[in-house]
Amino acid sequence: MKKPSRTEVIGIASGKGGVGKTTVAVNLAIALQKAGHRVMLFDADLGLANSQIALGCACPYNLTHFMSGQKTLQEITVTSRHGVRLIPGASGVKEMAALSQVQASRIVQAFSALEDEIDYLIVDMAAGISPSVLAFMAACQRRYIVVRDDPSSIADAYGTIKVLIQDYDLNEIYIIPNAVASQAEGQNLFRRINQVCAQFLNYTTHYLGAIEYDDQILAAHRKYEPVMEFAPGSNSARDFKRLAKSIAQMPPTATVSGGMQFFVERLVRFQA
Ligand SMILES: Nc1ncnc2c1ncn2[C@@H]1O[C@H](COP(=O)(O)OP(=O)(O)OP(=O)(O)O)[C@@H](O)[C@H]1O
Ligand SMILES: [Mg+2]
Repeated sequence: MKKPSRTEVIGIASGKGGVGKTTVAVNLAIALQKAGHRVMLFDADLGLANSQIALGCACPYNLTHFMSGQKTLQEITVTSRHGVRLIPGASGVKEMAALSQVQASRIVQAFSALEDEIDYLIVDMAAGISPSVLAFMAACQRRYIVVRDDPSSIADAYGTIKVLIQDYDLNEIYIIPNAVASQAEGQNLFRRINQVCAQFLNYTTHYLGAIEYDDQILAAHRKYEPVMEFAPGSNSARDFKRLAKSIAQMPPTATVSGGMQFFVERLVRFQA
């Protein structure tokens, strides 16, 4: 099985809220972990702490405790039943904007120490395209845009891609259609968005596979469980496993600046 030699950092955004970023982040993390990779999930959503609920974890501490120096990164990290490690974000992420040099180097050091332990770091973004979301997306190596087949989700996904390309000059942008009726409809949605990107941005995005609409996701949500665990035989669990497989088969990004250390260094730089 191919494993990235350095931690591969993946950002998940959508523009529009409630389209399935956290669902994709959490279930993809479990699917990758089940396939033998070591995965860490970073909840970069401000204040809402959704990932821990979706993952079914109780988190006594969060990034705020780490930023203030009360706790180490290891102490705030919780491990799910599936072995996925989670860094609960909460309001601490806001403070990233006003980091002192000392704090910044503490974070860089703490994350760099994880380089050998983690194959994938998945960053679950807040909705919208605030400077904080863009800084996180810019710092990642690969960017996944979750989109539903509705006009406002499509417009927001396109708006997000446009800013990432035009203002941040980023590549490695992938589209994950979510809650679609079939894989064929997912492909079709990708084609429509990609056509607009090619025409107006002179940029083509990549396709990774779609997640079908699945009532089991909602049933799992009500039980505070990820669907990968609640209904492993469901259509969406099948799609998450497929997605994990495509991701694991991707070659490492061309950039030399991979890995944990560069993620945090870039994050600090983009927030400055
Ligand atoms: N493929 C799907 N089929 C059915 N329901 C889904 C699917 N994906 C997500 N949902 C449901 O949609 C709702 C929103 O999902 P989620 O919280 O993952 O979105 P989000 O983009 O992270 O939202 P936010 O912008 O608030 O962070 C949840 O109730 C979730 O269970
Ligand atoms: Mg969310």
